[in-house]
Amino acid sequence: MSDMRGKICLITGSNSGIGKETAVGLAKMGATVVMVVRNEERGEKAKAEIMQETGNQFIDLMLCDMSSMSSIKSFASKFKDRYDRTDALINNAGAEFVKRQVTAEGFDQTFAVDYLAPFLLTYELLDLLKASAPSRIINVSSGLAKNGKIDFDDLQNEKNYKGMKAYSNAKLMLMMFTYELSRRLMGSGVTANVLMPGFVATNLGKNSGSLRSSIMFKMVRPMQINAKKGAETSVYLASADEVKDVSGKCFAKKKEVETCPVSYDQEAQKRLWKETTKLLGLKES
Ligand SMILES: NC(=O)c1ccc[n+]([C@@H]2O[C@H](COP(=O)([O-])OP(=O)(O)OC[C@H]3O[C@@H](n4cnc5c(N)ncnc54)[C@H](OP(=O)(O)O)[C@@H]3O)[C@@H](O)[C@H]2O)c1
Repeated sequence: MSDMRGKICLITGSNSGIGKETAVGLAKMGATVVMVVRNEERGEKAKAEIMQETGNQFIDLMLCDMSSMSSIKSFASKFKDRYDRTDALINNAGAEFVKRQVTAEGFDQTFAVDYLAPFLLTYELLDLLKASAPSRIINVSSGLAKNGKIDFDDLQNEKNYKGMKAYSNAKLMLMMFTYELSRRLMGSGVTANVLMPGFVATNLGKNSGSLRSSIMFKMVRPMQINAKKGAETSVYLASADEVKDVSGKCFAKKKEVETCPVSYDQEAQKRLWKETTKLLGLKES
C-alpha cells in the first residue's frame, strides 16, 4: 500500500459508489481527501462513514454542482483559498439521463455533467496542479465510450436524444480530452490518465430519471462488481509509484488498455478542445 500521508486528493462525486470507495482507498493510505459533492446531507453521511471505516480524520467536504459551470468556478476558487496544493484531481462524478434536459446555463445535462464539468474543473485547477507537481489528473470514463461518436454539429445531443448514446458520447469526449490534455501538459510534472472502472453496482441508474432504467440497473446487479473493486483503478492511478510518470493512457483493472480508434484522432481532439473552450468562454491555451 502506498503512503499518501500529506497528499491532498480531490474526488468529485465521492458520497456514493466508485467515488466513495476511491475516497476510502486513499484515506486508508493516509491521504487528505477532499470530497466534492452536490448534496451536503449525503456528503456528511458518507464523510462520517469514510472516517469511521478508515480512522482517517483528514476528510474534508466541499459542495459543488457539476451540472453548473458557475458552481464549478466558485468551488475552484474556494478550494484554492482553502488549499495551497493538490496532488490528485479525480474527476469521478457522472450521471446518465434518460430524457434530454437543459441546464440553467443552457447546456445539455449529460454533456455538462459528464464532459464539460471535468474539463472546466481541470482547467480551473490547472495552475494549482502545476504548482503542486508531481501531480495527477484522473478522469473516470466508461467502456461505453467505444459506442460514442463525436458529431461537431451536434455536440449537445439536440437531434434524436438517447440517454445511453449521449452518455457514451460524453465519455468518449472525456477520453479525448485526457489524451489532448496529457500532450499539453508534457514536461509539466502533471500527468493525465483516463480509466474504465468496469460494470459496477452503484447508484448510477438512480440518477437517470426513469423508473424503467433504474429497474433495469437493479436486474443486472448480479453481473456487476462491487464499488470497492470498481474503485481499484482510480486508487491505483492516484497513488501507485509505478504510474507516477505515465500520462495520456487509459486503464482498466489497473492495466493500460487500448481505446477505440476515434479516441486517438488528434485532429478531432484538438477541434473538440477548441469547441469546448469556446462554449465555456475560456482561453484556448
Ligand atoms: N457504475 C458503473 O458501472 C460505471 C461504469 C463506467 C463508468 N462509470 C462512471 O463512474 C463514475 C462514478 O459513478 P458511480 O457508478 O459510482 O455512480 P453513483 O453511485 O451514482 O455516483 C455518481 C456520483 O456522481 C455524483 N453526481 C452526479 N451528478 C452530479 C452533479 N450534477 N453534481 C455533483 N455530483 C454529481 C453523484 O452525486 P449524488 O449522490 O448526489 O447523485 C455521486 O456522488 C461516473 O463518472 C460514471 O459515469 C460507472
